[in-house]
Amino acid sequence: MNVDAKRLIEQDKAHHVHPQSNLRQHAEHGPTMITHGKGVYIYDTEGNEIIDGFSGLGCVSLGYHNERLSNAAKRQMDILPFAPTFYNRSHPRVAELGERLINLAPGGMNKVMFQCSGSEANDTAIKLLWYTNTARGEPERRKIFGRVRGYHGNTVATVSLSGQPHMHAKFGLPLPEFKHTELPNYYRFHIDGESEEEFSARMAAEFEKLILAEGPETVAAFFAEPAISGGGALMPPEGYWKEMQAVLRKYDIKLVSDEVVCGFGRTGNMWGSETWGMEPDMVSCAKALSAAFFPISALMFKDEMYADMMKNSDEMGTFGHGYTYAGHPVGAAVGLEALDIYEEIDLVGHVRKVSARFLEKCHAMADHPLVAEVRGVGLFCGFELMQDAKARVPFDPALKVGEMVQNFAHDRGLYLRAIGDRMSFMPPLIINEEEIDLATERFKDALDDAWEVVRNKI
Ligand SMILES: Cc1ncc(COP(=O)(O)O)c(C=O)c1O
Repeated sequence: MNVDAKRLIEQDKAHHVHPQSNLRQHAEHGPTMITHGKGVYIYDTEGNEIIDGFSGLGCVSLGYHNERLSNAAKRQMDILPFAPTFYNRSHPRVAELGERLINLAPGGMNKVMFQCSGSEANDTAIKLLWYTNTARGEPERRKIFGRVRGYHGNTVATVSLSGQPHMHAKFGLPLPEFKHTELPNYYRFHIDGESEEEFSARMAAEFEKLILAEGPETVAAFFAEPAISGGGALMPPEGYWKEMQAVLRKYDIKLVSDEVVCGFGRTGNMWGSETWGMEPDMVSCAKALSAAFFPISALMFKDEMYADMMKNSDEMGTFGHGYTYAGHPVGAAVGLEALDIYEEIDLVGHVRKVSARFLEKCHAMADHPLVAEVRGVGLFCGFELMQDAKARVPFDPALKVGEMVQNFAHDRGLYLRAIGDRMSFMPPLIINEEEIDLATERFKDALDDAWEVVRNKI
């Protein structure tokens, strides 16, 4: 490491407080400092070339270098670097992006609001649910369901909605309106002999029990990622969405599909909700909307909800919600360019094509002694690590097996994410078959490295 790199790490260590990080580790060792990227590769100050098997944070869909996107940003900065969307004002790119997104959206969506992050999109969704329920004369419908291990953001409301205990403890959260139903991890939680469909029916029955206990007339919505991402790349079991949606319909509870990770091709369809036959009332998206080149997110919903918003706006004289950078011109320009690129290179078709190889290589790791279950769709795959796969005995958490695999993978030149003892593997959507071969080889080597350590400790 050269002197400049050391200085950067010291600067970062001294002043920069890192989100979602181990603060002690940062104070003692400083950060891994990524200096640049190209294609699916990132490069650190140690001179390592690493395949990004986590797409940054599930967002870098087109890889780390794209002149069309950087030119779109520069062009827009030169023409109009900022324009508010408050006070009935607009600008060309955001008008175009709104129409473009609605044309791509799952059925029934006709309105869109822009924000800068997935958290803000979901937070806006919560506020709109409360706002429109007031207009509909149902102000008591305020409770919102998420799922254990779901992840919807970090604002006070969206983190309450998320089912991540480490993000609640010590913050005095979740807020009382937010409830959580079960994590549909079939492998971990099925009863011996129970089929996936039976398991899904049981999940839906448990959900219905919770709704009835709260009082269905007090429940506004269920937020769900089509496949759970931040909670560990968990694909829904067979029949899950059919069963869950039947319960929602029965009690007139809205479904919000959080497509922040699944949106724009990750699962081999434009939307995760298409992959699993979900019929959402609202859709939030972010990340790949701009291929992660600029912070922008969107929340889409139906005309009937807009009509209720209109009632309140008429009464109050305005719709009292919004962020300064909502529909930022540069974000909108980059988003439009990203959507053009997706269409021109048929990104969804590419994901479908290469995911056959990706999933085949991932499944080939299923009989590794550390691995209990492999399950994926598109370029999105989760690995459950267990001491005894058959008896479903987890490793002693003190062994930190997931973290060990993550670290060995890094040493081998692959960035993967461990969520406890689940590994999440979701490379940039432009990855090709040779890169898939290389990435999965490195993953397998990292599992072998970890097994050498773990086998002597169990
Ligand atoms: C499914 C999902 N929803 C919402 C968010 C929050 O998005 P952001 O970090 O942009 O606020 C994330 C972040 O990873 C996510 O994975």
